[in-house]
Amino acid sequence: MRGFGSALWLAGMVAASTLRTTETVGQASLFIPPLNGAPQQCGSSVTDSDLAVMISPDVFDGGAECGKNVTVSFQGRSVVLQVAGECVCITSSIEMTMAAFTTLNAPFERPVTVNWEFD
Ligand SMILES: *[C@@H]1O[C@H](CO)[C@@H](O)[C@H](O)[C@H]1NC(C)=O
Repeated sequence: MRGFGSALWLAGMVAASTLRTTETVGQASLFIPPLNGAPQQCGSSVTDSDLAVMISPDVFDGGAECGKNVTVSFQGRSVVLQVAGECVCITSSIEMTMAAFTTLNAPFERPVTVNWEFD
């Protein structure tokens, strides 16, 4: 029975390492575009009306995730946001535009708890 247990353990490890679309529960804060319209780390400027998301530097990975879509869910609603740059935040947290908060019907005055994952 030892061999059987090891095989199950191995299968679990493989499943965990290939599952890239794991949902993350984290805090979403409002992204406030700079007044001078300066571009974000992915090269484009972001406005309140863009459906854009900023992710933490470790997840951003030097730009590897630029342009990818992230689905964010809040209390039964969801929105697809494009990665536009980095936030100053921890791994599980994101910053979203006003358009994202509006679409999710979420209050933007304080961080809200959301689920998010790469598409
Ligand atoms: C991101 O989502 C938009 C809108 O749904 C879609 O048009 C676009 O092709 C997606 N981009 C990627 C890289 O999947």
